[in-house]
Amino acid sequence: MGLNSMKLSNRVNEMKYSPIRKLATYADAARSKGLRVLGLNIGQPDIETPSLFFDAVRNFDGTVLKYSESRGEKNLLDSFILYYKDLGMDFQHNNLLVTNGGSEGLYFTLYAICNPGDEVIVPEPFYTNYSSFTDIAGCKVTPITTYGEDGFHLPSKEKFKEVINEKTRAILISNPSNPTGVVYTREEIEMLAELCIEHDLYLISDEVYREFVYDGLEFFSPLEIESISQRVILIDSISKRYSACGARIGLVASKNTSIIDAIMKMAQARLCVPTLEQLGAAALYHTPQSYFDSVKEEYQARRDVLFEGLSAIPDVQVKKPTGAFYMIIGLPISSAEDFCRWMLEEFSYKYTTIMMAPAEGFYSTKGLGANEVRLSYCINIQDLKLAVEILELALKEYMKSH
Ligand SMILES: Cc1ncc(COP(=O)(O)O)c(C=O)c1O
Repeated sequence: MGLNSMKLSNRVNEMKYSPIRKLATYADAARSKGLRVLGLNIGQPDIETPSLFFDAVRNFDGTVLKYSESRGEKNLLDSFILYYKDLGMDFQHNNLLVTNGGSEGLYFTLYAICNPGDEVIVPEPFYTNYSSFTDIAGCKVTPITTYGEDGFHLPSKEKFKEVINEKTRAILISNPSNPTGVVYTREEIEMLAELCIEHDLYLISDEVYREFVYDGLEFFSPLEIESISQRVILIDSISKRYSACGARIGLVASKNTSIIDAIMKMAQARLCVPTLEQLGAAALYHTPQSYFDSVKEEYQARRDVLFEGLSAIPDVQVKKPTGAFYMIIGLPISSAEDFCRWMLEEFSYKYTTIMMAPAEGFYSTKGLGANEVRLSYCINIQDLKLAVEILELALKEYMKSH
């Protein structure tokens, strides 16, 4: 065997490791020293998954665990149809395709609509896997920068027009947004819809955080705009909605059945999504509204604690986010990555330290986000208060020595 056979592809060589998990080895080392590490770096909810899921799996009465349909189990598709009906949206089976998490839905979509070299416009900072998926699909993210001082809302239509060219295929948004927590207004979504019509683009709407919108704001989906319904590709998932990340159940939906038909070819090649998880997921439609109300109340309370705590730390730049369970904050230091590493290696208070995600990896424009971190509020309120205390003390200490 020659050495050539051991070479790796340019595709994987050019991909980056997740910035969210980048500091994991330092966190492990801190834990092995006996410290508690509060994880503000990752969007793994600590909320209990509704027992409906586990009951449905336990009650499985088959004797053979068969492949399911490539489009998804009929009862799961039916439950998604009912879920959207409650939101005022009409879908049939041929508009839907169950995927291995929203993640598979995203890369299937990019594979279906982009040729190598094509471009997808994404407001930055963005969910880092978006660029992993475009890298795998051979296309590229064209960032459109949003800023903390504007609450990470979208820039003008003109700014978008400046970056649209003949290679642009789509605009991709996470709404409510991971990592910024922004919820786009109806006007912003209408502006994107106009751009898609004027420039013949798709609008990929990643709505996996749809339920997490605070302060009484209304969530507005591009699916509600009839004139672009053929252009909208919806990415959905049960991961965050029901705190069921490990089930790996997501969905691609579109009124444009030719997109779903195209994705079906890829779905058939991966055969199906796990059968038992689909059974559990189908039962989740019966989750009572009280579950959503209490989960939302909990996240909103956490957001408030974190926001108020951070606002009281001198020179920390923070705007109150209105959705999902993340925020990006600016710190009075030059390298957030160095600071995050230092925290795990050198700093503790009450035998505890915190793990944050340096925000640079959420931008594709070089140099942006170097002094920012992304925080998630997927831990309890008491720990969040402690995390803010630790951050304040650590910043003081770090700034003395750096
Ligand atoms: C914005 C966004 N989209 C999609 C996903 C993918 O989620 P999953 O594959 O678990 O459905 C995530 C996960 O964190 C996310 O934050």
